[in-house]
Formats: sequence, C-alpha cells, structure tokens
Amino acid sequence: MCGIVGYTGGREVCPILVDGLRRLEYRGYDSAGVAILSDERIEVCKATGKLSVLESVLIDNSPNGVLGIGHTRWATHGRPSDENAHPHSDCTGSIVVVHNGIIENYLPLKTQLIANGHKFVSETDTEVIAHLVEEAYQGDLAEAVRSTVLRLEGSFALAVICREQPDLIVAARRHSPLVVGLGENENFIASDVPAFLPYTKKVYFIDDDTLAIVKKSGVELRSLDGDPISKDVFEVTWNADMAERGGYEHFMLKEIHEQPTALRETMRGRLSSETADVTLEGLGLSHEDILKLNKIVMIACGTAYHAAMVGKYMIEGLVRIPVELDVASELRYRDPIIDNNTLALVISQSGETADTLAGMREAKRRGAKVLAITNVVGSSVAREADGVLYTYAGPEIAVASTKAYTTQLMVLSLVSLYLSRVRGTISTERDAQLRRALWYIPEQADLFLSEYQDIIGCADRYHNFAGFLYMGRGPNLASALEGALKIKEIAYIHAEGYAAGEMKHGPIAMIDPSMATVAIATKGRTYEKVLSNMQEVKARLGEIIAIASTHDTEIHSLADKVIHVPETEEMLSPILNALPLQLLAYYVAKFRGHEIDQPRNLAKSVTVE
Ligand code: F6R
Repeated sequence: MCGIVGYTGGREVCPILVDGLRRLEYRGYDSAGVAILSDERIEVCKATGKLSVLESVLIDNSPNGVLGIGHTRWATHGRPSDENAHPHSDCTGSIVVVHNGIIENYLPLKTQLIANGHKFVSETDTEVIAHLVEEAYQGDLAEAVRSTVLRLEGSFALAVICREQPDLIVAARRHSPLVVGLGENENFIASDVPAFLPYTKKVYFIDDDTLAIVKKSGVELRSLDGDPISKDVFEVTWNADMAERGGYEHFMLKEIHEQPTALRETMRGRLSSETADVTLEGLGLSHEDILKLNKIVMIACGTAYHAAMVGKYMIEGLVRIPVELDVASELRYRDPIIDNNTLALVISQSGETADTLAGMREAKRRGAKVLAITNVVGSSVAREADGVLYTYAGPEIAVASTKAYTTQLMVLSLVSLYLSRVRGTISTERDAQLRRALWYIPEQADLFLSEYQDIIGCADRYHNFAGFLYMGRGPNLASALEGALKIKEIAYIHAEGYAAGEMKHGPIAMIDPSMATVAIATKGRTYEKVLSNMQEVKARLGEIIAIASTHDTEIHSLADKVIHVPETEEMLSPILNALPLQLLAYYVAKFRGHEIDQPRNLAKSVTVE
C-alpha cells in the first residue's frame, strides 16, 4: 500500500504535494518523492525514510512549478531505498510515474523492455510503467497511458506526467484506490480524499479500469476503450482527520473493513481461478527441501500466534507433517528439537517483534530453514529469513491487529495447499474444494461487513458485563483465543478463550449472570459437540452469544444472541469468524468509551523481549 498525489493549477505545487503526502503517510513511510514540471524539465526529488527526510531535502532545493505528482511508499517489490523510491522515470526523464499497487506481470514486461534497449535503475515493478509509456508515446500521453494499462496485470492506481504536455496528469486505476479532487481552475488526484481536503471537497471516486485526464481547466474520464465516462461529483462532508480514516471513527474500524481488499490482495497472483495454480514467489524452498521436511516449528506472538494455531491445524490436516507451535518467548528456553530438515515458520505482522526474532534466530542456529510470513517489506524478519511470503494488508495502524491476522490465515491456507500438492497428500477433489472456498472468502467477508447491526446491539447489551468466556473447537479454538485477546486489549474486560470441551473441567464454575459466553459454533466436524457445550452453559443460566453459520436456525434455541457468518470450509472458517469477534470487541470498547486505536500499556510493535 502506498499513497499517490498529483496537482495541476495556478499555485506553487511543491508545498501542496508535500502537504498531501503528509495526510497520506499512514499508507506507508519507507520513502517519499515528488516530480515537478519546472521550466520544461521534470525535476524529481526523492528520499528513503519518512516524509520528513524528503522535506529536509526540499528545504534548500524545492523545484518551482504548478504541476506535479508525489508518492509515499510502503515497499512491496524492492527494499526501501532512494533508487526504489517513486517517482520513476523513463530512459529520458521525460515521462514520470507514481504508482500504488502491484504489477504482477512486471518481470516478463521488464525482460522485453530490456531487450528493446531500455535501462532500468530500480528493482520495482513500477518502473516498467514509465518505460512502457515511453514506448507507446506518440504525442498523446492519455493514449500512451491507455495502451500501457491494457498490458498491465495486477493492481494499480497510477499517475503519469510528461515533459511535452505540461498541463496534463493522466491517472488510471484498477483495484487500488484513486480519487480526483475538483477545484476552481485547479485539480487534484490522490489515493485518498484527505490529501486534497484543504482545497476542495468535490470528488470523483474513480472506478476500476478508468482513465482520468486531469488538466488545470477540467477533468475528463474515459474507459480503457477510450469512450467518455460521465460521473456524479460527490461532495464530502468529512473533516480532514475523519477522512484520513476514510470516514471511519477509528483506524481499527477502517482496518476491519479493509479486510476483503487485503484478503484479495494477499491471494492475488498466488491462487489462479483459471489454471488452478498456486504460486508462492519468495517461498525459498525447493521441492526437494519440501519432500525432506520432518517437522515444522511455528514461531509467533499474540495474534500472530493465534494465526499459527490455525496454521498447525491446516498443515497437519493437509500436509501430514507434524507441527510444533511455540509462543516465541518460550521457544528458546525449552531446548527444542530442531535439525536441518525442520522448517521454522515465523509469523509477524511488523517483522520486528523481539521475541519472534530471537526465536527465529535460535531455530536458524539449530539448522532450520526459515520461512517468514510478514506484512512489512525490509523488516528484520523478512531480511533474515530464507524465504518470505508477504501479507499484502497495507499498513496496520490500530494497535489491535485485525487485517494482518486474516491475511496471515490466507497465506497459511495457500502454504498448506502448496505443500500438500508437492508432498502428494491431497486428493484432486479436496484440492478443488479448498480452492473454490478460498476464492470466495474475500467476497464472503465483503458480504458480512455490509450488514452487522446485530453486533452493535449485542455490544450494547453486554458492554457492562464483568467478563467474557470464549469457547471454540478445532481451528476455532484459535478464534476463541483471538476473540478474548481483542476484547481484553481494547475493552479492558477480563476474558478467556477455552477449548469448548474444557469448560466442564474448570471454567464453567465462573458462569453467572455477569459472565457472557461467546460460542464459536459455525458448521464443521465438532458443531454438535459445541452445541452440547452451549447446553452446559445454558443449564447454569449463562448468557450466550453464538457465532453461527448463515442458515443455522437450530442454534437460536440455545443462544441469547446469534451472529451469523457466511459458511465456508471448517479449516478456513477462522478467517470469517474473526470479523464478528473483532467488531464485537470494537463496539464493546466504544460503548465503554475507550481510546480504541492506542489502548493503554500497549505498543504496535514490541521490540523488547
Ligand atoms: C494483538 C496484537 C499483538 C501482536 C503481537 C505480535 O492485537 O496486535 O498481540 O499480534 O504483538 O506482533 P507481530 O505480529 O508484529 O509480531
């Protein structure tokens, strides 16, 4: 996830671009850059690190001009560096591009462009766009961008400027956000509305496969066939602070709602609906390595540890390799049995958690190969692992992890599928079932998030309860633990997650009218068992909130409140079950009047042991 901005009008452009980037910095801060059309040249200025680094470079060296584009980067292809920072130029410096997204076919395009004589200076996927536009340009930038976009696969919101057309920004979008701000004799493009809110509240929300031809005097929208598109102007009513959160009251809520997109992005290019291929670029394991594996040791903390619990269930079920699971802070103190045929699977959103890093180094020291699942390119975990699979969730700002968790589950599903194919432990039929189910997960998440009024009612009813018990079985034991963690960390209510079968071995003694039980009871192998466990709670007059599959009516007789989620394969159900648990915690915390995005005593990245 990155942020892009652009401006054309009568004012000095550099401060407008920097101001816009400041408002988009939440989208990534690995590097930043601007390109400004100045005296018939395009001046590019960029710097690694936060926007403040670029600002200090610009203090003595700010190019003058009235048209320009800018970018704040969250690295995906290529480490954070000056060369990889945007904007990127063609061979002559006449065509300059900023881009947010991932160009999946950039490698074949790059090979072709190099064969045609183009010179590349970065490791990014974006740079191919500048060279493709250069090849296509014959005096009409809009046409050159249009024909370039037709060759791109993947996701993009991009903006292109050209030295020969000094009053023009051409922008395009597919699957990455792009908005156009409409001013008086000035116009803007950006990834998100806050970038230009101080100047205009009139907005076009650009649809996929649309081209925006932006001039000082006006904006024209075209389809990729070149046909004109008319669109209503939307007048935003948010203030700048709200808008940074996309109109949501908190980043946590925004991030909960970003999950369908984050899941799609994480699946994109890895699971093909047409060819049935599973492609895990960056895995760092040959088929031979995979066939030799005798054990997988999973290392993670907190929410990432809960993802690992689901991962164990998936891998053992599909790949039939024994999986050991360790909270990272415990691994190094228990003398684990690890050898050259062990795979250490390390999960960390930030890639900087000290305990996880220490556990990973210990596993490596003992001979394990390390595969990391992380959200942050260039993080320590990513740099030190033998292979890395990224969760393309975009920056997670709220301390309570949401979209990182569900995208970690998505990657784990893909890894399980891939390993089981290589080891021949999955039937063709099961493989097809799982692929189909995975493919629908983002859509099902979208469907669930479109309507959840019942959760708000539930949070209202239970927010003053003294405690919550969460119970689940199989892969949803992890859901129970994750649900309890969420409510503890933001609502500050004592909560415990339990294997539902364990309730009668102790925790059921705590059931009283001030204790709510959340039963994760979606359809699966142990559904009937969970119903029995709910009976046991009900018999002691406990209040029950059930998370149940969409068409389950039977459960209403056992639960005081039922939250329905779309049905999927049991193994994948923790992905969808996470959504109501996150929302329940969010609204309970909200009813209790807590600070949600930065809960007390916690930090986003825990870099101390
Ligand atoms: C809970 C939460 C934490 C993190 C944990 C590990 O909502 O965010 O429990 O999951 O601190 O962090 P990462 O994944 O960055 O290693």
